[in-house]
Amino acid sequence: MDKYIISGGRRLEGSVGIQTAKNAVLPILAAAVLTDEPVRVLNVPDITDVRNMVKILACLGCGAEYVGNDIIVNGSTADSCEIPRALAHELRSSVFLLGSVISRFRRAKIAYPGGCDIGLRPVDLHLAGLKRLGVGITESNGYILCECDRLTGNEIMLDCPSVGATENIMLAAVKAEGVTVIKNAAREPEIEDVQNFLNALGARVRGAGSGTIRIDGVKKLGGAEYQPIADRIEAGTFAIAVAMCGGEAELVGANAENISSLLHKLRENGCKLRVKNDRIFIRSDRRPVAVKSVETQPYPGFPTDLQAQMTALCTVCSGNSIVTENLFETRFKYVPELRRMGADITVVDRSAFVRGVERLRGATTVAHDLRGGAALVVAALAAEGESEVLGIEHIDRGYAAFEYKLAGLGAKIKRVGI
Ligand code: EPZ
Repeated sequence: MDKYIISGGRRLEGSVGIQTAKNAVLPILAAAVLTDEPVRVLNVPDITDVRNMVKILACLGCGAEYVGNDIIVNGSTADSCEIPRALAHELRSSVFLLGSVISRFRRAKIAYPGGCDIGLRPVDLHLAGLKRLGVGITESNGYILCECDRLTGNEIMLDCPSVGATENIMLAAVKAEGVTVIKNAAREPEIEDVQNFLNALGARVRGAGSGTIRIDGVKKLGGAEYQPIADRIEAGTFAIAVAMCGGEAELVGANAENISSLLHKLRENGCKLRVKNDRIFIRSDRRPVAVKSVETQPYPGFPTDLQAQMTALCTVCSGNSIVTENLFETRFKYVPELRRMGADITVVDRSAFVRGVERLRGATTVAHDLRGGAALVVAALAAEGESEVLGIEHIDRGYAAFEYKLAGLGAKIKRVGI
């Protein structure tokens, strides 16, 4: 268990490289189970969620190992279709394995997935989609048991554009007999990345990024070396940190298009932004101006994974803002921690009403989930005085070398054991 000690009130300046996207790497690693050929995923961030996914792959009997910054997966040795509770509970993405394990073994037994405690996070859409492909599903004693004689393509209409359900169905359908069409599919950039990876293996997937994805089943998949996209949430987190602390930074390897909803808000805040190829330049040289409202929506709307960080920024803007979380039921757990730093925030149902204050003051806060933890770090960097952030194991799930990257921008932050 570690904590951060942060001396706030310093401008952030310099250049920071953006990691490969956690939420692309995880489904891609799950998809590697679909083929007997070796898969090499390039420049994978060294974060806890990825390490746990590698453990799950090994538990299925797949060869899965880090080679430098890459991960090589050999699905040919897979010999188990069961994911034990301890591992499944570690991360939400364990549920993605349902689709690929069923495709390989026609059976799967997985405990209910874990992940950030940000809401109910049911898997009903995942299971309904798999049933449409011919999978029989029973749930008992905290496990989901799946069986089928074969997987048969079908049309699936998602009640809501669930990222995980879209990805799970894609993985189950790529080797099904016939055509699968997913309607009201999630449109996140990570979905398009999973499509591109599957097609690199020889699958026939089209339409990702639109609301309708068509998958023509194929008999066999090959291997591939693949570089997933940049992590738009990490890039957004650093952009918000600069906006909140003041300064000027270059985000290298970022895709501005994938966070255009955030960049639009930061311009409203008064930040100067320039984009050149895979670099985003952001400058903030005065107290940010409040944006009236932020509403999280499925892509391309404002990302729920930047909601906490954006709310932290709102706390020091001139003026008032309303931040509404439309995707998850309890994604404001970080608010009492920000109030400890002097933030003026009131949460009513799914909205946080924020009255901007001149400055936050350093305090000891506790992270309860990944993105809420990142928001507390960003707030501490901007606050007057010294802060401690506990529970940073949540942050380690999704941000590789977070303190090193921030220190590279001039932040005074260090990790200490407790
Ligand atoms: C993915 O989670 C991401 N995780 C989340 O990022 C992200 O917040 C979320 O998509 C939304 O963009 C990964 O990709 C590993 P959903 P997922 O299914 O797939 C409801 C982070 O911080 N729903 O799109 O679990 C659900 O309750 C993490 O990196 C059902 O009702 O999200 C939620 O209200 C946090 N039934 C909404 O859909 C289902 O079967 C969106 O969830 C599935 C979902």
